[in-house]
Amino acid sequence: MFESYNNILNDLEIASHLRSIKNFEHKDGKYIYIDGKKLLNLSSNNYLGFADNEDITEEFLSFAGKKYAFGSASARLLTGTLPVYKELEALISKLFETDATLIFNSGYHANVGINSSLAGIGDVIFSDKLNHASIIDGMQLAKGKFFRYKHNDMENLEMLLKRERNNFKNAVIVSESVFSMDGDIADLVKLTELKKKYNCILVLDEAHAFGVFGEKGLGVCEELQIIKDVDLIVGTFGKAIGSMGAFVTGKKVLIDYLINKARSFIFSTALPPINIAFSKWIIENKLPYTYDDRMAMLNLGRKLGSESHIIPVIVGENDKTLELSNILYKNGYFTLPIRPPTVPQGTSRLRLSLTTDIIDKDLECLKNLIPVYSRRLLKQ
Ligand SMILES: Cc1ncc(COP(=O)(O)O)c(C=O)c1O
Repeated sequence: MFESYNNILNDLEIASHLRSIKNFEHKDGKYIYIDGKKLLNLSSNNYLGFADNEDITEEFLSFAGKKYAFGSASARLLTGTLPVYKELEALISKLFETDATLIFNSGYHANVGINSSLAGIGDVIFSDKLNHASIIDGMQLAKGKFFRYKHNDMENLEMLLKRERNNFKNAVIVSESVFSMDGDIADLVKLTELKKKYNCILVLDEAHAFGVFGEKGLGVCEELQIIKDVDLIVGTFGKAIGSMGAFVTGKKVLIDYLINKARSFIFSTALPPINIAFSKWIIENKLPYTYDDRMAMLNLGRKLGSESHIIPVIVGENDKTLELSNILYKNGYFTLPIRPPTVPQGTSRLRLSLTTDIIDKDLECLKNLIPVYSRRLLKQ
């Protein structure tokens, strides 16, 4: 009965595609320990170090005491919602100066809920080809149609809009701001122009930019001062904020619509109150003091040839990517190989992500090791 599954796993292994979960023994700031070996962690989304900082945990727990429970026990629509959820939503709306905000259990839940519900029968979504799997999964669940435009190619998007827009009722354009696997940034100004010209709803996923870009840490839209031109902005609490969950903020009618139609919101137990309180506490008490560190991290990323703190080292073949990852491992660097379907075929890579405690000197040896393998070299 299980033979076909086993065969698939064997095929994955032969193609250097098989995934397994790596076990850490211990984490300590920018370092992780595996098999007694100390490694610089270049695979973390804990960009500001809030997720596993003992001092922060202690400070938060002394503030929180026993006020917040570790379970919510139900979905919010089913049995109502405690004040802390509304407080976090109000905080996000205030920071972004938007009408309304809704918390989801994760960025995955948010993107699946938004994209599956906004495009009903007769509607359409235009999505960047390299958008995250959660956006793709949402579109696949939608009753409407979707088109994927070439990555960050505004001419290709406009060609599709010209050809298709008038065949549909509602139209949505969806893009990440900082692309999770490439570290490049969408042409957000052009996206806002096109959304106005073709009467579309613009949804931007700032998962990797929220907590990193902008003076207040709200993301690339804050930096470009275009928050008001975007209909819905998605941000996650699980990356730079070091917590768990996500929000979508923007036009009230769309938020009310999501409360009624986004099944990943309606049919899932809400995050624990303690977790909501932690996200709110970090955003209010810690994020405002991170500006200089965030800018230093972004500058280091730019020095290494990226537009952000995420640096792709595109190798191409799966086996070569695994080989490079192993060489780096032996030299004290923890980098995970990223392979299809996470990235397109033939573009397997190492995705290096910086955190604010990593400095240039930490990467010296890595810079010497990488160019031999990589088609797209790190800037020397
Ligand atoms: C661009 C993007 N959106 C959404 C998500 C999902 O967020 P979460 O991990 O909170 O489910 C990710 C996660 O990696 C992401 O990279």
